[in-house]
Amino acid sequence: MAITSTMEALGALGVTPDTLSPGQKESLDKDGLCVIETEPAFWREFGVDLDEMAKTIDDLFEREGFNAGWEHIKEAQKVGSTPEAGARRLSNLINKHPIFRRAMVAPFPLAASYRVIKDEIRLTSLQIREPEPNAGNQALHIDWRPRHWPTAPFGACASFLYLDDSSRETGALRFVPRSHLKLGQPEDYCDPYEEQPDQVVIEVPRGAMVCLNAHTWHGGTHSSGGRRRALFITYRNRRHWQQLNQKKFLDPNVKDSLSEAEAYLLGVRNQDATQNEFFYRRRNSRYIRFFSFARDWVDAHVGGERTTHANSFTE
Ligand SMILES: [Fe+2]
Repeated sequence: MAITSTMEALGALGVTPDTLSPGQKESLDKDGLCVIETEPAFWREFGVDLDEMAKTIDDLFEREGFNAGWEHIKEAQKVGSTPEAGARRLSNLINKHPIFRRAMVAPFPLAASYRVIKDEIRLTSLQIREPEPNAGNQALHIDWRPRHWPTAPFGACASFLYLDDSSRETGALRFVPRSHLKLGQPEDYCDPYEEQPDQVVIEVPRGAMVCLNAHTWHGGTHSSGGRRRALFITYRNRRHWQQLNQKKFLDPNVKDSLSEAEAYLLGVRNQDATQNEFFYRRRNSRYIRFFSFARDWVDAHVGGERTTHANSFTE
């Protein structure tokens, strides 16, 4: 049977309403983040050897050098400056090694994303990020457009798989519990580089995951040394931009080898909309921003009953 919905894709991949524990669901709903205490042995059994992934990452860092990480906004990457000082990134990973394709369909990010977004989902990006030592705090931020109305739905969910221990030495993640319920974004309330009295630092060992409502205020902390590579698996509502246009970037031979569930979650089937790159490149222009704002207003005020899609995942 052809897969035509997130529910069917998740079913085909063995993701169920019980994939997240009651405590993880409560934490994700209430605080905007949950920790999944997976270990390297879990990932090996799932088909993702963390040693192999770490070695692949280092090989790619070496091979790609300065060009690494910003395929979707190449024009912003110039010699002497990078879109994000203080961190290295890799992107377009599904083309680069099968291990990343397997990680993309890991159960926890899928269950968490469906729970947060409560609508049809699509992978927006799969990236590696590694902070550089002594670069200071990353600003507190959110990973999607700010919400302006209490009834506005959550648009995205980001999940991090740690390839190294994430500790206060290596620049662990900080977040502000319940901040996903605030409207706007951190800079509307505080200096986002500063420590916040209610922030929590999440220290987890290699192999653990963190699933984050993308509207939760978060950021990396100062790293004093040691590596902290993490795979970011980010899903958005299917109606939003895909950060990396998979129809454009995915190699045809990789596309042909995808399972139906993978093709659905990547949005690369023939019947999936083709993202317009002309408008994507201008997504921060006044006109496109206004269009996005208007659509968010409609979602917040006329949106209808979203939870019907995902009832069993959201109760
Ligand atoms: Fe982020």
